[in-house]
Amino acid sequence: MKMIVAIIRHERLQEVQDVLDECGVSGVTVTEVKGCGAQRGYTEKYRGAAVHISLRPRLKIEAVMRAEIVNTVVDKMAVAARTGEVGDGKIFVMGVEDAVRIRTGEHGPETVQHAERAMWGH
Ligand SMILES: Nc1ncnc2c1ncn2[C@@H]1O[C@H](COP(=O)(O)OP(=O)(O)OP(=O)(O)O)[C@@H](O)[C@H]1O
Ligand SMILES: [Mg+2]
Repeated sequence: MKMIVAIIRHERLQEVQDVLDECGVSGVTVTEVKGCGAQRGYTEKYRGAAVHISLRPRLKIEAVMRAEIVNTVVDKMAVAARTGEVGDGKIFVMGVEDAVRIRTGEHGPETVQHAERAMWGH
């Protein structure tokens, strides 16, 4: 199994969740975060003075899936999250040893895959 950790713009959440849904990923964790990338933040005028804002709000998306689909999900997610402007975010991929569905005690890739599409409710 693999985990995608993606940092995205708030306004791209629905499109990114739609990709996960389309690919049969069984769940997602979304966290409000702050960060900066290569530009190290930005400068804003406040009462005439330049103020440096180093951290900008973003969403962190965590999703665990079968290893076989991760490349497809990454490519689709990059398209879904892209505006073309600096600050569009990053996608990181890492290995996951195991997953357990707590209710049933079952282990492994079956626990992170949905057989049928189940819309997120937005
Ligand atoms: N190397 C990194 N490690 C952890 N988080 C990162 C890293 N790079 C970017 N991020 C996160 O992603 C967010 C968006 O990054 P951003 O898109 O600005 O990356 P970038 O490399 O500067 O690309 P761009 O030049 O397109 O802006 C940051 O606010 C930060 O939360
Ligand atoms: Mg940047």
